[in-house]
Amino acid sequence: MANGLEGVIAAETVLSHADGERGIIWVRGHTIPDLVAQGFEAAVALMWEGFAGEDLTRTGMIDALGAGRTLAFSRLGDWLPTATRREPLEATRLLLAAVPDESTPAQIAAALPVGIAALIRSRDGKSPVAPDPSLTTAADFLRMIAGVAGKEGFAQALDAYMTTVIDNGLSASTFAARVIISTRASLASAVLGAYGAFTGALHGGAPGLALDLLDEIANSGEDVDATIERKLAAGERLMGFGHRVFRVRDPRADMLRAALLRLDPDRPRLAFAQRVERAAVARLERRKPGRRLEANIEMDAALLLDAIALPRGAFTPVFAMARAPAWIAHALEQRRSGRMIRPASAYVGPVPA
Ligand code: ACO
Repeated sequence: MANGLEGVIAAETVLSHADGERGIIWVRGHTIPDLVAQGFEAAVALMWEGFAGEDLTRTGMIDALGAGRTLAFSRLGDWLPTATRREPLEATRLLLAAVPDESTPAQIAAALPVGIAALIRSRDGKSPVAPDPSLTTAADFLRMIAGVAGKEGFAQALDAYMTTVIDNGLSASTFAARVIISTRASLASAVLGAYGAFTGALHGGAPGLALDLLDEIANSGEDVDATIERKLAAGERLMGFGHRVFRVRDPRADMLRAALLRLDPDRPRLAFAQRVERAAVARLERRKPGRRLEANIEMDAALLLDAIALPRGAFTPVFAMARAPAWIAHALEQRRSGRMIRPASAYVGPVPA
């Protein structure tokens, strides 16, 4: 039995497809570069078409998500005072738990940028900034954090990031969303459960840890190879490397690197990350020959989120903000099948006397 259900087909979908050998992701017949050129709201409209409305457009989606942000702002008092004392990763769970069951897809997705921005500010002792519903999610999110428009190029970089990571086949979190909605639970519950699955270090919890790894190697005073070897010898996983599906370098990593370079970031750090990547891939190949453990998206994602001045503790919530529209689309697609997901287990325990 494959303990991780690898290779098991658990759903039919028109939403997205990841080809790990060729390094390709398709979202409803579009490539990721094509989606990035159109922007996040256009990608959400594409994913939700036929599931959360008909004839959806980018401008219509900007309006719907903008209205959702305004509503979410009016509800901050429901959860923010309690959540402020928690780390953003944990506080975001409270944010999603407070989303009412009757919420529309746009209201659920829009709760994240408003709530995460308010959390980042409140942890600095600042009060929340009201959304501007006319803006894109990326631009308004940065504005709600800073209190003023984001720096030149930051919103474009965040939009490129959010669109690049919007969906990736049947990831663990997406599967969780499908399982939850299949019991006829609410869409809000499916998104909350998906977020729970997402937060782990092996999945969406990785970007902050990937940056920690980079810093640890930089500050160790050791040679790059020696630090990596020491970590592998201790049985640690190298954050930002390996993927259940991709056996080649994650195709999205290069797109994020291009967005990062457009910002003209701290080049020495990028060069160092590339050195670490080469060393890690070579050491992993030596330890796990033939498993083809390559860089996944997380190192480049972390460098990009860091370059646009987002706090490391909020990387995973921001990743979730980008992925939530996919959880919603997959859940709505699953709901149509009407069949509860309930696999079987093989009992290997003791037999009653
Ligand atoms: N560092 C060290 N060893 C690793 C790593 C790694 N990053 N990745 C895999 N391995 C090891 C596994 O432990 C396994 O060893 P074993 O055969 O002795 O048990 C072997 O390499 C093969 O692993 P796979 O079957 O290819 O990996 P799997 O599909 O189980 O896991 C995963 C994929 C969870 C992403 C893994 O590569 C990992 O833990 N990576 C680090 C965390 C990370 O970067 N997560 C983000 C993923 S991207 C995303 O979800 C958004």
